[in-house]
Amino acid sequence: MSQAVFHFPKGFLWGTATASHQVEGNNTNNNWWAWEQRPGRILRGDKSGLACDWWGGRWREDLNRAADSGQNAHRLSIEWSRVQPTPDRWDEAAIDRYREIARGLTERGLLPLVTLHHFTDPLWVVEQGSWENPNIVNLFANYVRKTVEALKGYVTYWVTINEPNALAAYAYALGVFPPGKRDLGLALNVMVNLARAHAAAYQTIHKLQPEARVSIALNVRPFLATKSWSPLDRLAAGLANGAFNDLFPRALTSGEMRVSGWRRSIPEAKNTLDYLGLNYYTRESIAFVPQASQAYVRLSIPPGLETSPNDMIANDPDGFSEVLNWARAFKLPILITENGIEDAEDGLRPRYLIEHLHRLWRAVNENYPIKGYFHWTLVDNFEWERGWTQRFGLWELDVASQARRKRPSADLYAEICRENGISSEMVEKYAPGLVEKIFPG
Ligand code: BGC
Repeated sequence: MSQAVFHFPKGFLWGTATASHQVEGNNTNNNWWAWEQRPGRILRGDKSGLACDWWGGRWREDLNRAADSGQNAHRLSIEWSRVQPTPDRWDEAAIDRYREIARGLTERGLLPLVTLHHFTDPLWVVEQGSWENPNIVNLFANYVRKTVEALKGYVTYWVTINEPNALAAYAYALGVFPPGKRDLGLALNVMVNLARAHAAAYQTIHKLQPEARVSIALNVRPFLATKSWSPLDRLAAGLANGAFNDLFPRALTSGEMRVSGWRRSIPEAKNTLDYLGLNYYTRESIAFVPQASQAYVRLSIPPGLETSPNDMIANDPDGFSEVLNWARAFKLPILITENGIEDAEDGLRPRYLIEHLHRLWRAVNENYPIKGYFHWTLVDNFEWERGWTQRFGLWELDVASQARRKRPSADLYAEICRENGISSEMVEKYAPGLVEKIFPG
């Protein structure tokens, strides 16, 4: 085999992504902390607790790990409940802390990408009905104004809301996130409020910082009909793709939210994406099952693919290519804001990483406007309703002792970041079985 390197363009962003509640620890003033105290909500009764202790100062050592391993960007989120613990109070000490972290990123040569909402709401917002109450639009815009004023000296790339599609689905249709509701009509209203809140945040940010680059991070998850010959499975797949994948980017480009026969005009949301932030993990199969407890459908991992230890995620690079192709039609710059796999033993992650980055490289070389990639995640962190049972980190975390241990994939990713490319030597070293597939001949 001849030696070869697949290089990415100069200036390509390489980072990892994290989120406040998953890494900070002691986020006692939000809806997730409250949810964790309720029996039966989190697997094994796990709690976020100290998480990765970033609020206690360990953000420094973890960001050193990121910078020392060749990354040049990092995505993290701000915790609304820290910035605004009650409706009438800004916590200036917390805001200073975030300023220090943002400065810490730039000092380490990590371009900050800051998410303003990653699944958690302050308790006082919950008391007002959170995303069910249209007034969330004003509340969110007010918090965004304060936060952007504080951080705009360091940050120009923003994500307003992480995965508004997953939030609406998990919290209001499937009931696995707080407030645990299962009501499709309500989920649609929530989606309207999410789109309107994004639009208000977009305008607020641009007023304060005209050069800002603003988007959402969309969870893209192509749905395939389990039985391709079944009209009902195909119908379910079409509806799921329309509601989950297409709805937000269409609404935020056209100003119209549409799924099946339902439509809502949201004119202020038109053209409110400066780039498209995409979180891709896996594709899913969907079957229409009248007796299923989850909205008449059953979801599963497509057959015939390697899967993560808990069968959550398939190693499905074809799905990634499909997503990139779909995304290109929006004619916006693209950032991969999350991609990764739960894999405590790091058995599959090296292959997953190489195969997905190879597809990314191919798309970049076909001139897709892809500007960067953020791996989920830097260090194992609190996985929402799955607690600590799933490990997505390049570094392993011992939650009790807070000790970190590097997984082989951390070295692989470091080599990729430093080279700004994937070499045949790397593939030979970390995933020899893939050499012929990635570097044939
Ligand atoms: C979320 C992350 C989460 C990851 C892995 C994404 O949908 O944005 O917060 O940790 O999936 O489950």
